Amino acid sequence: MTFGDYQIDLYLGALGGNLPAHPFTYGELEANALAALPPELRTYVAGGSGTESTQRANAEAFEHWALVPRMLNAHAERDLSVELFGKTLASPLLMAPVGVVGLCTPDQHGDVHAAEVSAATGVPLIGSTLMSDPLEDVAAATGDTPKWFQLYTPKNRELAASLVARAEAAGYDAIVITLDTWVPGWRPRDLASGNFPQLRGKALANYTSDPVFQEMTGPDPDLGTLVFTWVGTFGNPLTWDDLPWLRSLTTLPIVLKGICHPDDARRAIDEGVDGIYCSNHGGRQADGGGAALDWLPDVVDAVETTGTGAPVVFDSGVRTGADVVKAIALGASAVAVGRPYVYGLALGGVPGAVHVLKSLLAEADLIMGVDGYPTLADLTRDALVDQRPRS
Ligand code: GLV
Repeated sequence: MTFGDYQIDLYLGALGGNLPAHPFTYGELEANALAALPPELRTYVAGGSGTESTQRANAEAFEHWALVPRMLNAHAERDLSVELFGKTLASPLLMAPVGVVGLCTPDQHGDVHAAEVSAATGVPLIGSTLMSDPLEDVAAATGDTPKWFQLYTPKNRELAASLVARAEAAGYDAIVITLDTWVPGWRPRDLASGNFPQLRGKALANYTSDPVFQEMTGPDPDLGTLVFTWVGTFGNPLTWDDLPWLRSLTTLPIVLKGICHPDDARRAIDEGVDGIYCSNHGGRQADGGGAALDWLPDVVDAVETTGTGAPVVFDSGVRTGADVVKAIALGASAVAVGRPYVYGLALGGVPGAVHVLKSLLAEADLIMGVDGYPTLADLTRDALVDQRPRS
């Protein structure tokens, strides 16, 4: 069995009269999923910061690169496996942390369903701090697939320690600390609709289930107290001085998310973190920042100079299997998708998101097969040509 065999299942299913239930293009997936979501979630999930130029650039940047086909190097089976923090994964694909995925299924248990998707596909879930179910319940639904926990570091250090300790106890394999969202970015669509789900008490289950947070609110808080307490502690404006404290919270691997500059990447590794996550938050946080993909090669090179072999995870703008292949060729160790699987869940529940991930993997695998790059190690920068006109 290869990932590409998913297309055989689809063609055979159609021969048997079962046409595919879910779309194959990102445009159709997005349009149908947004139509299925309640209006207040549409803007929040689809929108980005400012004019959304960063969000658009993220996706368009992949088109600057072309994977050069190589022939007479056909392999019936491709090897997409990768080792991350001591665990072998069948592919480099990850599910990016998405704070409101919990709200994107009608039963409001989208985080647990995302975990079920992870269990069904073997694609690890990076569970967000902003869940609609406690992180323990989400962990329990991931089956044998590894899982990581994403931390929005609260101002209250005891609360931060408690969230990390709970994630460790629940069996998460790594802690991803997001650095670019200690304050919400300027999001015109949400501002215009006056909507920010957390401010309505949504996606706060990891706080309401936490003993430290419960002490902060007092027993049975009303909605106002809950939201006010959350707003007061949510975003910790971290600096390098906080890194030793963050490091001291866990023996799990720590991955810093939001790193786009090589100097930040090198310093983070030198100061003891285990992995770098190059991302601009899908263009949701700061407009005018260019495509995250354009920062990836320098970040990868900087991490390489540390000689640690630390992995570099990438997200922001990944929409297709071809995008996954290109990010790997530019040096990513693993590639995460956010909106694609969220739209899959919104449109078709667990089967919808499973379809999205299996389609991404099938396309990546088939491209590697057709173009003669049978393993991830074959996908180097030499496999790509930059098609931008030279100035
Ligand atoms: C939160 O993580 C967001 O991107 O809205």
